[in-house]
Amino acid sequence: MLPELEDANQYINSKISIIDNRILEMEKYAIENNIPIITREVAEYLKFMLNIHKSKNVLEIGTAIGYSGSIICESIKVNNGMLTTIEINKETYEISRNNFEKNNITNVKSYLGDAVDVLDNLNDSYDFIFIDASKGQYHMFFEKSFKLLEKDGIIFIDNILFRGYLYKENYPKRYKTIVNKLNKFIEYLYSNHNFVLLPFGDGIGLVKK
Ligand SMILES: C[S@@+](CC[C@H](N)C(=O)[O-])C[C@H]1O[C@@H](n2cnc3c(N)ncnc32)[C@H](O)[C@@H]1O
Repeated sequence: MLPELEDANQYINSKISIIDNRILEMEKYAIENNIPIITREVAEYLKFMLNIHKSKNVLEIGTAIGYSGSIICESIKVNNGMLTTIEINKETYEISRNNFEKNNITNVKSYLGDAVDVLDNLNDSYDFIFIDASKGQYHMFFEKSFKLLEKDGIIFIDNILFRGYLYKENYPKRYKTIVNKLNKFIEYLYSNHNFVLLPFGDGIGLVKK
């Protein structure tokens, strides 16, 4: 989350009531085990976008424990929608499989592997793509998934402002490469795509094809 927005986010979160116990349980597990998941206000916005866009065929890069995946599956169920989700880490992949099964979520196809490779082998097309994995590879994920995106489709990129490091002078120098890559990626998106950058959550990028 962008540190500048902490108060606003706290306020928004105090207004969001999550009544689904399955979601709450996953959220609790993620916090206790230090697993990064989308924040509540980003989850609300993601649901809103899926709803107004009437998304049916969604691709997610970065499943983790299936938290955002479960939210997506529930949101697109009304459209008979299906989620395809990719995770590189075997342990979290297995937790996500278990969560989907335990929570009776059946409209999901999960892949274990590096999205860089998996994306090359997907034959379907998608009307909504959610990118939420390693930030240093965002440009590559974008290029590969844009090819799979249908006309009028949307790509939703989370954490694109990387804790605000992109516009701060002082940030841990070990992140320099990622910061440079993300800055170039944003310039590329502005110059070549129908793109909007929202200073919200940890920064959200939206592209419409
Ligand atoms: C921020 S977490 C995803 C959180 C999840 N979308 C949620 O909100 O519930 C990022 C995930 O991306 C996975 N990941 C990182 N690089 C990846 C890659 N190259 N291919 C597939 N998954 C990757 C990580 O293992 C991690 O579980």
